[in-house]
Amino acid sequence: MKSLKGRHLLSLRDYTADEIIYLLDLAAKFKKMKKEGVAHDVFKTKNIALIFEKTSTRTRCAFEVAAHDLGMGSTYLDPKGSQIGKKESIADTAQVLGRMYDGIEYRGFGQKIVEELAQYAGVPVWNGLTNEFHPTQILADMLTIRETFGKLKGLKFVYMGDARYNMGDSLMIGCSKLGLDFVACAPEGYFPNEELTEECKEWASLSGGSVTFSSDPKEAVKGADIVYTDVWVSMGESDDIWEERIRVLSPYKVTMELMKLASDDAIFLHCLPSFHDLKTEIGAEMGKRFGIEDMEVTDEVFNHYSDSIFEEAENRMHTIKAVMAATLGYED
Ligand code: CP
Ligand code: NVA
Repeated sequence: MKSLKGRHLLSLRDYTADEIIYLLDLAAKFKKMKKEGVAHDVFKTKNIALIFEKTSTRTRCAFEVAAHDLGMGSTYLDPKGSQIGKKESIADTAQVLGRMYDGIEYRGFGQKIVEELAQYAGVPVWNGLTNEFHPTQILADMLTIRETFGKLKGLKFVYMGDARYNMGDSLMIGCSKLGLDFVACAPEGYFPNEELTEECKEWASLSGGSVTFSSDPKEAVKGADIVYTDVWVSMGESDDIWEERIRVLSPYKVTMELMKLASDDAIFLHCLPSFHDLKTEIGAEMGKRFGIEDMEVTDEVFNHYSDSIFEEAENRMHTIKAVMAATLGYED
């Protein structure tokens, strides 16, 4: 396989199955080194910039810890604390940061913004979540699945809920490239767009996987190895849509009743953060407004599968480290 040095990571669309597997292998190697206390600060002279136009816990911490472990310095630019967009264009920002930093992470709105940043930066740009894609999350998900089942090919992966946003789209890409049987289970109007679906079906035909849609949760989860969901309203979406989403997506909530239809050793995963109880400001507000106790997943399911979910969260760091190392020229 050709070196990944100098590559951006804007979407897993641009990566072959071999390249994705290479990143998972490298992440597993770094994870082992970290656990054994083996230093891997191979990029002591490098620095990275982290642009967050939306908030974050996992992605920001993963980039910062991974950068530190690799010996790199990092600068965090928060949603309000820079000139980006308001007083300075993306192209100008990219050229300034590209002269000071060796790599740039971007979390924000449209995919076109991260693409423009990559066009002008002259250094690797990593997508830390846009409305359309969340590629570093998918790497962590796939590492977690591979650690659990010892393989990826042939597993049945069911995504429940709003399947047409960053998580549904990106999981469909990852699963179809790596040979999983991907099922999007959502109401009409909440499926990934046709163009991306066709692309994924082609990748699936090469990898031995498949891509199907269902609007019947009980039917969809039958025999599933992995059941996955995400919040019903994503960052940047209007607060006005909560009522509609709760009404339309409630039948797709992941419950124990549904999990019992999955395979005996099935796991439940969630990119997090999750509204599995009312212990958050938004959760409490929605609980009060709509008389509900949870949203996309019940507290019971969340707690039952918490080992897998939090391993998945930890794996954000190991996989992000692999992405940075590989694209900055780490020789395995
Ligand atoms: N899963 C994820 O991206 O989490 P954060 O929003 O906390 O970064
Ligand atoms: N769909 C969610 C994912 C969070 C990791 C969002 O964009 O807010």
